[in-house]
Amino acid sequence: MTHDRALAGGRVAVYRHPLIVRITHWINALSLLLLLMSGLQILNAHPALYWGETSRFSRPLIVFGSGDGPAFPAWITLPGWQDLASGRRWHFFFAWLFVVNGFTYAVYALTSGRIRWTLLPSGAQIRHIGRSVFEHLRLRFPHGEEARQYNVLQKLTYLAVLFGLLPLIALSGLTMSPGLDARLHFLTAVFGGRQSARTVHFITATTLVMFLLIHIAAVLAAGPLTEMRSIVTGWFVIKPDRRES
Ligand code: HEM
Repeated sequence: MTHDRALAGGRVAVYRHPLIVRITHWINALSLLLLLMSGLQILNAHPALYWGETSRFSRPLIVFGSGDGPAFPAWITLPGWQDLASGRRWHFFFAWLFVVNGFTYAVYALTSGRIRWTLLPSGAQIRHIGRSVFEHLRLRFPHGEEARQYNVLQKLTYLAVLFGLLPLIALSGLTMSPGLDARLHFLTAVFGGRQSARTVHFITATTLVMFLLIHIAAVLAAGPLTEMRSIVTGWFVIKPDRRES
């Protein structure tokens, strides 16, 4: 669905994000933040990671802090600093919100054609990916007609996050649930053991934090007002490309 509104100065407002995309985007951002903070509190209970089925204390893969006692400070942990039971309750509540929300977005995106029309790069975009990387490194963002759609790097990153990292973090989390492990034991085998699933869960969360930092930096570099307006109201304002005239 494309509606355009002509604005002063040759600018055009394009309806870029339908309501369901905006709502699921913000529920996702909120639930991921709370999952991260409650997750660090859970990790504080035993701040070390292992590979395989069991945690061999003598052979950890990664140790945070001294490995003995909480490693992450109180300002980054929820709902308290050392309260494993409440931390797990918060984590599971927001995990289910995150899963239901992600599922809602995925069903919408797959059935509405959003994946095909908005997120899949075109052949021409793939062919010119080198130029796009170069333009990004120079912090030059598309204007005019080119800005109507996501650029190829945005599309590939969003696809990797939506259909790679987000399902991976949910599946590795489910693998650690004793109740689900009893019913879906193949998941533990896929990850190579419960401790491996825990490590994959942590690495995926760290990768998501890195994505988020780059995502926010890109919003700031591309124009925070236009970008935030689009993901809050749906309307994205395109400036005329002076090079076209
Ligand atoms: C404070 C946090 C965040 C801010 C300020 C933010 C901002 C934005 C903005 C401005 C857009 C629209 C970009 C455009 O139209 O050019 C967007 C889209 C998007 N964001 Fe975020 N975002 C945040 C958190 C997240 C998180 C945590 C994730 C996922 C892990 C995420 C994933 C996405 C995806 C996949 C899209 C594209 C959705 C679609 O078009 O269907 N964002 N975000």
